Amino acid sequence: MDELKRLVISEQTQEDEVISLSLRPAKLTDFIGQKDLVSALKISIDAAKKRGEPLEHTLFSGPPGLGKTSLAHIVANEMNSHITITSGPAIQRAGDFIGILTNLNKGDILFVDEIHRLPKTVEEFLYPAMEGFKIDFIVDKGPYAKTINFNLKPFTLIGATTRSGLLASPLRDRFGIFHHLEFYEKSDLATIITDTAAKLNVAIDPSAANEIANRSRGTPRIANRLLRRARDYAQVKAGKNHVDLDVAVECMKSLRIDEYGLDDLDRRLLSIMKTHYQGGPVGIDALSATLNEEVDTLVDVIEPYLLKTGFLRRTSRGRELTDLSLKHLLKSKL
Ligand SMILES: Nc1ncnc2c1ncn2[C@@H]1O[C@H](COP(=O)(O)OP(=O)(O)OP(=O)(O)O)[C@@H](O)[C@H]1O
Ligand SMILES: [Mg+2]
Repeated sequence: MDELKRLVISEQTQEDEVISLSLRPAKLTDFIGQKDLVSALKISIDAAKKRGEPLEHTLFSGPPGLGKTSLAHIVANEMNSHITITSGPAIQRAGDFIGILTNLNKGDILFVDEIHRLPKTVEEFLYPAMEGFKIDFIVDKGPYAKTINFNLKPFTLIGATTRSGLLASPLRDRFGIFHHLEFYEKSDLATIITDTAAKLNVAIDPSAANEIANRSRGTPRIANRLLRRARDYAQVKAGKNHVDLDVAVECMKSLRIDEYGLDDLDRRLLSIMKTHYQGGPVGIDALSATLNEEVDTLVDVIEPYLLKTGFLRRTSRGRELTDLSLKHLLKSKL
C-alpha cells in the first residue's frame, strides 16, 4: 500500500525520516510520556555514569513509531557516547559484524534496529561479543582453518524490535535492561503535537491539538505526520498558518481518518471480518489473503492498535470483532 494512501501507517516514510531529524528529542527530559520507562532508564544511565562503566545492553521493544530509535540516540547523548547504527536486515553474515565490532571504542553504543531480523548464525556470533566482549572467528578453510579470538572493548548494544516474541531467548537473556514501549496517552500526544507545532512555527489551538491526538493511534510518529497535514490544510484551504479545531476536523475528514484514528484499511479489515467471516474468529493467514496485505503488516502495524483499543480480540481460534467494532461499523460515516 503506498504512503499517500495510508497516512496513519506507523512505519517511517521518507518524509518522516527527513523531518524527524529535527524533531527527535535529544535528551531524556525532552522525551514525553512513557514515564516509568524514562525514570528507570535515567537510573540505569546515572548509575552507569557514576561507576564509569558503559550502560548494560538494552533492548527496546514496541510497535513502530513509538520512539525506540529516538531512545537509542538519547542514551548515546546522555552517556556522551559515540553511536554506530545498523540493522538486522543489513547484516546477513557474521563477517559483516566483525568490522563493526572491532571498530567500537570503550563505551560506544552499537544500535541494531529490527534486531529480530538478524539471521540465526549472526545472532549466535553476537552471544560471546555481548557477554564477554570477545569474538571468535574462523579464518581459512579445511585443514588450514583456525579460530582467532579477538577481544573487544566494552560497549553497549542497544537493540530495537517491533516483536520481542521473535527474539531467541538466549539473545533476549543477554540484555540487562529491557523496556517495552506502550501506546501513548492522548494528553502526551497532545503535548508532542504542541511541541512539534512550535518547532515548525505553526500556531495550534489546544482543542485542535487534542483532536489530532485522538486520531493518532497512540503513536508520536503519526501525531507529527497528521500535524504536518493539518498545517498544509490550514495554509492551502484556509489561507492561514494557524490550525484551529475546524481546520483539524476538516483535514482529518479529508484524509478519511475517523475519530478513533482508523483509516480505510482498518475499516476494510473490520468490515471484511463482518461480511466474510461473520465477525470471526478468523485466522491471520485467511485475513491476509482476503485483504491482500502481508501477515507481518497486519500483525506489526495494523493489529496492535485495534487490539489495544478493543476493536479486535485475539482468541486461540483467531481474531474476533467486538461490540465496539460492530457499533463503530454501523455508525461510521466515513
Ligand atoms: N516520547 C516522544 N516525545 C517526542 N517525540 C517523540 C517521542 N517518541 C517519538 N517521537 C517522535 O516520533 C518519531 C518516531 O520515533 P522513532 O523513530 O524513535 O520510532 P521507532 O520506535 O524507532 O519506530 P520504528 O519501529 O518504525 O523504527 C520521532 O521522529 C520523534 O520525533
Ligand atoms: Mg526506529
